[in-house]
Amino acid sequence: MDAEVSENIIIVTAKAPVNIAVVKYWGKRNEELILPLHDSISTTLSTQQMYAETTVMIRQSFQEDRMWLNGKIEDINNVRIQNCLQGVRKLAREKLSDKDQDLSFLDWHIHICSRNNFPTAAGLASSAAGYACLVFTLGKAFGLDAVNLTHIARQGSGSACRSMNGGFVQWRAGKKEDGSDSLAEQVAPEDHWPEMHVLVLVVNASKKETGSTSGMDLSVKTSEFLKHRTNSIVPKRIESMRKAIKEKDFHSFAELTMKDSNQFHSVCQDTYPPIRYMNEISWAIVDLVHQYNTFYDRNKVAYTFDAGPNACLYVLEQDVAEIVSLICLRFPPASNNPAQFCVGLPINPAEEISRDLMSALKFSHSSGALQYIVHTKVGSGPEVTNSHLLDGKGLPKVYQTEC
Ligand code: DP6
Repeated sequence: MDAEVSENIIIVTAKAPVNIAVVKYWGKRNEELILPLHDSISTTLSTQQMYAETTVMIRQSFQEDRMWLNGKIEDINNVRIQNCLQGVRKLAREKLSDKDQDLSFLDWHIHICSRNNFPTAAGLASSAAGYACLVFTLGKAFGLDAVNLTHIARQGSGSACRSMNGGFVQWRAGKKEDGSDSLAEQVAPEDHWPEMHVLVLVVNASKKETGSTSGMDLSVKTSEFLKHRTNSIVPKRIESMRKAIKEKDFHSFAELTMKDSNQFHSVCQDTYPPIRYMNEISWAIVDLVHQYNTFYDRNKVAYTFDAGPNACLYVLEQDVAEIVSLICLRFPPASNNPAQFCVGLPINPAEEISRDLMSALKFSHSSGALQYIVHTKVGSGPEVTNSHLLDGKGLPKVYQTEC
C-alpha cells in the first residue's frame, strides 16, 4: 500500500500526466456516465514536464469533505467530483468487504488538495490530468492498488481515463449501457517508441471560450458530419493508428494525427452555431508543418489541436532541434529571454538551416505570437510521490487569501 497510514489518518499524494489525443474523442452517447460515441487514442506525456498533483487526506476527526484546486477552494459537491469520490468509495466497499478489515475509514471525511503545473482549462488537457490524479490518489488512499479505475476517472472527464496509463492509450467506447466496458487500455508502453518527442506550443494560455463538454454536446445535437465520422471514419482510423504505433511508422502516424485533428475542427465548424478553437497563429503553425514536410517529401512532424489554439507537435528526437529553430525564426519570442521561451527537455543547438529549406518555407515573422514551448516526450502513468500538498492539520501548505 502506498498511502501513509497512522492512527485515524490516511494520506497519499500522486502526480498524473497530461494526454494528447491523436484520434480525438468528441461526442457522448451518455452524458451522465460520460460514455463516448466512439473510441479514441492518445499519447501520455511525461510528468517530468507537465503534471497534475493531488494530496488526499482521510481523517476520523475531519468535520466535512473539503477540496482546494490551484490554491482556491473548490466546490466538492460538483457532480463530477462526487461521481469520482463515490465511485471509489463504492468500489472499495465491494473489494474490501470480504477481507478481515475494519472499514470504518470509508465513512471518514476527506480533504483534497490539487494543482496543475501548467495553465488550467486552456485546452492543455488539464482536466484529464486532474481527474486522473484525483481518482488514482483516491484509489491508493482506499487501498485499491491493482484495480482498474479508468471507468471512474472517465466519469470525472472523459479524456481522464486515458491519463491513467502511460505510453500509447486507447479508450474503448464500449457497448454496454452501464458503461462497464468503456475502459482505457495501453496500446504500447512508454518505452515502446522512445524517439517520439512532443513540443507543446502555447499560443494563448487564457481560459477557452467554449468548454469541451458544452462544445461536444452541441456537436452531437447539430453536426451531421459527426455521425459520419463516428460510423464511417473513426473505426478504420483507430485500426490504422494502432498499426502505425505498433510498427513505429512515423509517416503514417503523423498523417493520421493531422487528418484527425483537422477532422475534429471540421466537426466543430459543422456544429451549429459553429465552434472555433484554432486561431490564425494555429493556422500559421499548420502551414509551417506542411511546408516543412513537403520540403522533405515525407512527414517529419505532425500537429494536433484540442479545444483551444495551442498546438501539440509530434516529432522524432533527431528532428527536434531543426524544428525548434524554425519555430523560433517563424515565431520569435517577444522578450529577449530565449531561456524562458523553450522549457522542458534540453534542445541541442541545430546546425545552420540550409538555404534551400529557408527559401522553401518563405514565411513571415510574427514575434510574440507564441508564449512558450514545452519540449517533452511520451511518459508513464500516475505515480505516488512523497511531498504532500496538505499540512499536518489537513490544510493546503500554499494557502492563498481566497481560501
Ligand atoms: C478535444 O474529456 O475534456 O481534448 O468528457 O466532457 O470532460 P468531457 O470532455 P473532455 O474532452 C476532450 C476533448 C478533446 C479531445 C480528446 O482529448 O480526445
